[in-house]
Amino acid sequence: MQYLHIYKPKVYVELGLYVGESLEKVQPFVEKGFGVDMNINLQLENLKKHKNLEIVYSKTDDFFANFNNQIDMAFIDADHCYESALCDFKNVYKRLNAGGIIILHDTDPESDNLIHPTYCGDSYKMVTYLENQTDLNCTTFPLYNAGLTIVTKKNDTRTFRRMQNNAHLFSCYRKQDKFGWLVNDCLTCIPGVNTFWHNLLEWFPELIDKTNTYTDYSVLSTSIENQLLTNNKPYYIIRNGTYFPRIQTDVKQVSLIQDIVTSGNLLTQQIDVMNNSTIVVFNTNYVYAKYKQYINENIRVKVCPLGVDFDFFKPIPDTHPNVLPNSILFMGASTNYPKGFNVLLDIINKMNNSNFCLIMKDDFSIENLEPTLRNRVRVFNKINCETIRLIINSCIVCVCTLYEETQHISGIECAACNIPIVAREVGVYFDNRDDTRWGCIADDSNFAEKINYVLEHRNVYEPRNCFIEKYSNEICKTNWVDIINTL
Ligand SMILES: C[S@@+](CC[C@H](N)C(=O)[O-])C[C@H]1O[C@@H](n2cnc3c(N)ncnc32)[C@H](O)[C@@H]1O
Repeated sequence: MQYLHIYKPKVYVELGLYVGESLEKVQPFVEKGFGVDMNINLQLENLKKHKNLEIVYSKTDDFFANFNNQIDMAFIDADHCYESALCDFKNVYKRLNAGGIIILHDTDPESDNLIHPTYCGDSYKMVTYLENQTDLNCTTFPLYNAGLTIVTKKNDTRTFRRMQNNAHLFSCYRKQDKFGWLVNDCLTCIPGVNTFWHNLLEWFPELIDKTNTYTDYSVLSTSIENQLLTNNKPYYIIRNGTYFPRIQTDVKQVSLIQDIVTSGNLLTQQIDVMNNSTIVVFNTNYVYAKYKQYINENIRVKVCPLGVDFDFFKPIPDTHPNVLPNSILFMGASTNYPKGFNVLLDIINKMNNSNFCLIMKDDFSIENLEPTLRNRVRVFNKINCETIRLIINSCIVCVCTLYEETQHISGIECAACNIPIVAREVGVYFDNRDDTRWGCIADDSNFAEKINYVLEHRNVYEPRNCFIEKYSNEICKTNWVDIINTL
């Protein structure tokens, strides 16, 4: 009864009054109250002084024979045998207004001896009945010794009712009308690893996963076009903007460009895809700058970096037992040309008193290094996120020697753990070249020098604060919600 002064029902009905104790408490907050009891007494007679109360002496069944009002709130507390309580409930429910509430007393007695006709009867059976009704919400509270159940109609909130009446006003929330397709070859190449594409599926429950259904890129677009002919057309498509041709169907398309191609058929294809998209999304300004010249003026463009989980990647006190003290970290993944592995070897040779830690996705092993370097280097291959976090937290600086990188998520993970970075002017490092908080830019001529500089000034860097402002999953999600809402 505590919230009645807020809810203020217009029509309140109480079945079973005894001496009217609860009806008297409710009286100030109701516009019109009906109290029903088969037994007359002085206290109930006295309640008649309240103009907004009507006391009816009758069996509850008989009361409903002549009662034609609609009810906003009812309290069922008369005969506590299941059949009577059920009959009272049905009589009230038939007359319940939209947004109405029914409260039943004696539905959860605290001990078996209360299940007796003179106490709670077998009203507890009402709970099973109510919980089996698909059109009802019901919650039972273990209040005092008798227990109490509150019942409302399903899909009967104020918002839901407004939505029913004014669907057009709420159309932006009716996602089922605006479902999308996620089109790419796969969600991840490394089983078990969560990627940005997984995030999209989580953030947009109306997005249907159309990945993993193609043998290769060459048939992907045709397959999607065929599916669009035979299925309910989605409102939008989110697609990888690089590796497969334009999808030639009249559907709004968001193309994500996170690979730089400088020439050839793939570049021609990318340009065609971009110029036939509703929105082109770049993961950094660095990538956008390279494509700006190819994009028609009428195409909408958004720079939206992929996010990193800053709740997971953070400074932790634990370290990895196999990482050497004060190691310099290279998250280069492989020894292929763009990763700048040659530059790393140069740095290892030059900084001959420093330890190094290499995280690789390929099979590179310590035996591939000169024997003289092996005591200062540790190599980790194909490790999981927990180990990556442990290793980052064991190192003192991260080095990114990549010649070309569109964003560099692994560097952001280091920054999230508050490890400063020395990097070439690519990806996020290009975008943040004027911010000195994350670390510093280097080139082939001065990597070792810059690493030493950063280590000497280690305390002034605040990479986590710097990157959390731009590269958290939350910010990425906000950007994507914005993209989808403006389609
Ligand atoms: C537990 S008392 C009600 C207490 C009251 N609701 C309160 O909270 O102050 C139950 C009352 O229901 C009445 N009653 C029992 N069976 C009834 C029926 N079939 N029709 C009308 N009143 C009934 C009894 O006379 C008794 O006064």
